Amino acid sequence: MFDFHDKIAVITGAGSGIGRATAAFFHACGARVVLADINAAAVEAAAVDLGDPERSAWSVYDATDPDAAERLVALALARFGRIDQLVIAAGIYERQNVASMSDAQWRRMMAVNLDGAFYVARACARAMLASEAGSGAIVGISSVAGHQGGSFAHAHYGASKGGMLAFVRGLARDLAPAIRVNAIAPGWIDTPMVAETLRGSGEAKLKAIPLRRIGAPREVASVAAFLCSEAASFVTGESVIVAGGAYMG
Ligand SMILES: NC(=O)c1ccc[n+]([C@@H]2O[C@H](COP(=O)([O-])OP(=O)(O)OC[C@H]3O[C@@H](n4cnc5c(N)ncnc54)[C@H](O)[C@@H]3O)[C@@H](O)[C@H]2O)c1
Repeated sequence: MFDFHDKIAVITGAGSGIGRATAAFFHACGARVVLADINAAAVEAAAVDLGDPERSAWSVYDATDPDAAERLVALALARFGRIDQLVIAAGIYERQNVASMSDAQWRRMMAVNLDGAFYVARACARAMLASEAGSGAIVGISSVAGHQGGSFAHAHYGASKGGMLAFVRGLARDLAPAIRVNAIAPGWIDTPMVAETLRGSGEAKLKAIPLRRIGAPREVASVAAFLCSEAASFVTGESVIVAGGAYMG
């Protein structure tokens, strides 16, 4: 565990899966957390589940809307006065072969997974730089698909996640030395996003994973916490693969 008692964290995609586990992990480390998600019922439930309204806040937030990112930052500043940590976990994963993909399907993937990362990173970075400490840490959740390309019928997803990796590196340079920025590239993690895919071909996928299991959301959350912590004080512009050995590149 890490000591985040003096930290304020903003987590997007916090209504489910990796984002929700990250909010819970950071909260358990002592942070005050602001949970954001487009799914109002889910993000409220995730916040209520923490059982600590003094150290948590939640917001209905659409990653594709730059104004929503600004409102999220305004909420964090109004409640807790500062932002120290941002984890960008909001994302979508949709199946579509490129040959039959519409412009709208491509754009929606980019809008949520990549535009969304830009809007919230920009808004939070401004707040971090304007704070008294003038520092912070950002983690973007990419994917193994960002390194090797999306799996069959997920080229747009792979492109958005490869974009996240490159964006994180550029951001790391632009915001250094004040703010460290890193990515996590998960492999198969047990969340609602991939439940159907895993139901269909879970056994075959396990054969390609040296650790012989699907990851738990908490196992991504703990790496996000490491990257946001002082233990990673000399790490920036990096991508950590959390995939049970499924991708060794
Ligand atoms: N689960 C995996 O195997 C896996 C693997 C690699 C990468 N990832 C990435 O991890 C991140 C989290 O995914 P997860 O597996 O926890 O999925 P999930 O579906 O459980 O959670 C994603 C969350 O993002 C929210 N969201 C979707 N569109 C949004 C929008 N427009 N604005 C705000 N929130 C929005 C959803 O409501 C949901 O709560 C995603 O970026 C995903 O691409 C997941």
